[in-house]
Order: sequence, then structure tokens, then C-alpha cells
Amino acid sequence: MTEKLTVELGERSYPIFILPDWDAYAEAIAEHAEITSPPTVICDTNTGQYAGDGGLLIELDAGEKTKSFAQLEKIHEEMALHRIDRGGKIIAVGGGVIGDLAGFAAATYLRGIDFYQVPTTLLAMVDSSVGGKTGINLSAGKNLVGAFWQPKAVFICTEFLKTLPPREFSAGMAEVIKYGMLYDRALFDQLVALEQPLSWDHPELPGVIRRCCEIKAEVVKADEKETATNGGRALLNLGHTFAHAIENVAGYGTYLHGEAVGIGLVMAAELSLKLTAEGRAGFQFTQADVDAARELVARYGLPTSLKDTLDGNPPPKLDIDALMDAMRRDKKVRAGKLRFVAMETLGTAVTVDDVDEALIEKLWQQFS
Ligand SMILES: NC(=O)c1ccc[n+]([C@@H]2O[C@H](COP(=O)([O-])OP(=O)(O)OC[C@H]3O[C@@H](n4cnc5c(N)ncnc54)[C@H](O)[C@@H]3O)[C@@H](O)[C@H]2O)c1
Repeated sequence: MTEKLTVELGERSYPIFILPDWDAYAEAIAEHAEITSPPTVICDTNTGQYAGDGGLLIELDAGEKTKSFAQLEKIHEEMALHRIDRGGKIIAVGGGVIGDLAGFAAATYLRGIDFYQVPTTLLAMVDSSVGGKTGINLSAGKNLVGAFWQPKAVFICTEFLKTLPPREFSAGMAEVIKYGMLYDRALFDQLVALEQPLSWDHPELPGVIRRCCEIKAEVVKADEKETATNGGRALLNLGHTFAHAIENVAGYGTYLHGEAVGIGLVMAAELSLKLTAEGRAGFQFTQADVDAARELVARYGLPTSLKDTLDGNPPPKLDIDALMDAMRRDKKVRAGKLRFVAMETLGTAVTVDDVDEALIEKLWQQFS
């Protein structure tokens, strides 16, 4: 059954469709994408098979390196060459890389044109296609240039996931688990209770994706541009301060983002336990919660510490000083203080600004 939810952002509100099969997908695009002239379809070499016919097709190399100024320029030049005007529409068919790049191309071409998201990875379905963050990387760091630019609609169809490599599916599951941990204990419990782990054709997957999109929509509605000083959109970064440090020190691409998030989520759980032990007001995180988080992350083949094998290989050895340094450089650092997302209870996250650096160092030791 086709499901629809709405991201409520006043005049920038838009629908997310969750579509059970190809027929429903084709129907939804025909009915709800307001495309009057041939669209510009942006995809990568792995998602070109899903691009459809008609319009201007721009197929880029797969991989994070594509989120660059060079590829942005290529898109703009091709669109200009084909005399795409302000009524032109972009359709992003791909994972987060294509979604972020195509969204930023739409935000900046002729000072902004409409675009649609067709996410084809689990990560893009539950996270990057919703919420309007678009952008590209610099050599100085990831996502350093970009814009908030909301899509006109998001079309999610789980059939795309049939061709997604299992390692990428697992990486997406880290973000799914994240939503349960930060916002929704019932979702977390639902994931724990599943007899068979989620896979592209699992009957519960569409409902789980829907719930993740609902949570993201609620959080984004309350803090669209991440300006809240407490909580807000920053809560979606549960586990990510650790994950970004791991990705940075290991070298981008060594760990998939979701794999680093897997470790980051267990570290955030352990941090929450330590803050509870310190007697922080509101914190009631338990050892059983930490264990449950670790088990769920491990169930999807994700690493839960820096000691775990990575895609069947021995993990890289990461220097703790380098990890601490990388965290200090993270863009979530405000006024020189390390900022973390922790959980008061499993399912309720808060931002904490005054965490002792020594405690974080101890955590890295424990996970190394
Ligand atoms: N905008 C946001 O809010 C937001 C949130 C989270 C992550 N991101 C960004 O998302 C990016 C990561 O996204 P991702 O994990 O989707 O990576 P990705 O787009 O690189 O896709 C992962 C791999 O899967 C391939 N692929 C995609 N769909 C496929 C399919 N259906 N079948 C076969 N192969 C397929 C891709 O070609 C690529 O090789 C990062 O750049 C990150 O910064 C953005």
C-alpha cells in the first residue's frame, strides 16, 4: 500500500511517498512530480539503470569524490548547454552522494530550481533525502559548502534496494537504529523483536522506513536550519561525533559512514551510562541499554568497536590522540567545547556541552 507523509515547513512543505513496488512508483512520479518539460535526471554509474527515459541524463562516477565543485560545474554547464530554464526540474536518482550534489545543483542553478529526491540506498531513504541539507565536499573536509534547499517531493521505493550491496544496506541500518535510540524506544524494541533481520524484501521494512522519515520530519520541522542551541536537529547526530573522528583518522572510505556510526552509537550508549554514573540530572541509562544497543548494531554485521573486523578484514589501528584532535576539529564544536549527543534513557536524546575530555579519552581506550 502506498503511504504518504508530509514534511511540514510552511510554504516549503512537501510529501514523502513510500511505494510498495515499481508500478506504484511509476504512478506516483507521473501523478505527483510536476514535470512539464523534460527533467534533468542526475544519477551515478550504479543507479543509471533506474534513470528512466526522456530528458537530460547526467551520469556521474559512483562514490564520495563525486560530491565536488568539479561535478557541480559539469552539471550546471550541461544544463545551460541544454538551455534548461527556471521551469526546469532536477530528479536525483541515487544515494546520499547524488542527492546532496543534485540538491545543491538545484539550489544554485539560476538561483534555485525545483528538485525531486528518488533515494536508492537505505541511508538516503531514511536520512539524506529528507530535510533539505544539500552540499559538496572540500579537500579541507566533508560537506563544507552547501545550502538548505528542500525537495518538492521524495519518492521512496524499497525495490531499489534489491541491487544495493549488503554492506551498504547494513550501513543504512546504523541510521535506522539511531532513530530508535534517539527518539523512539518503540521503534528500537520493534527492531530487537524481529525474528528475521530487516532486508530489502522484509514485510516490516516499509513501515520502519516510514517511521524514520516521520522522526526526521518532526525534528527538521522544529529546527529546519539547525539553529537550536539545545537539542533540535543536532540530536540526529547521535553517535556522529565519534563516527566522524573515526572516518577522518582511518581515512575516508576505510569505514563506510554507517559502519563508523555503528561504533559511534555504542560509544554514545557507553557515554550515556557514564553520565548516569556521574549522577547527571535526568540520566537513567543502564548497562542493559548499552548491551541492547551493542547487540542490535552487531546483528546487522556492523562493527561495535575499533577492534572488530571490517568487511572481513582486520581493522586499521587508530591513534587515540589523532581521534581526540579530529573531534576537536568537528564542525559541531561550539566555542571550543566538545559537544555530544547522549541519551537520558534509550529513546530520549539530549545535547551535552560540558563533557570532560578525560572521560572521552577513556572511552576511546575502552573501544580500541
Ligand atoms: N543531506 C543529508 O542530510 C545527509 C545525511 C546523511 C548523509 N548524507 C550524505 O550521504 C552520503 C552517503 O550516502 P550513501 O550512503 O547513500 O552513499 P552513496 O550515494 O555513495 O551510495 C553508496 C553506494 O551504493 C551505490 N548505489 C546506490 N543505490 C544503489 C542501488 N539501488 N543499487 C546498487 N548500488 C547502489 C552507489 O553508487 C554507491 O556506490 C554522504 O556524502 C553523506 O555526507 C547526507
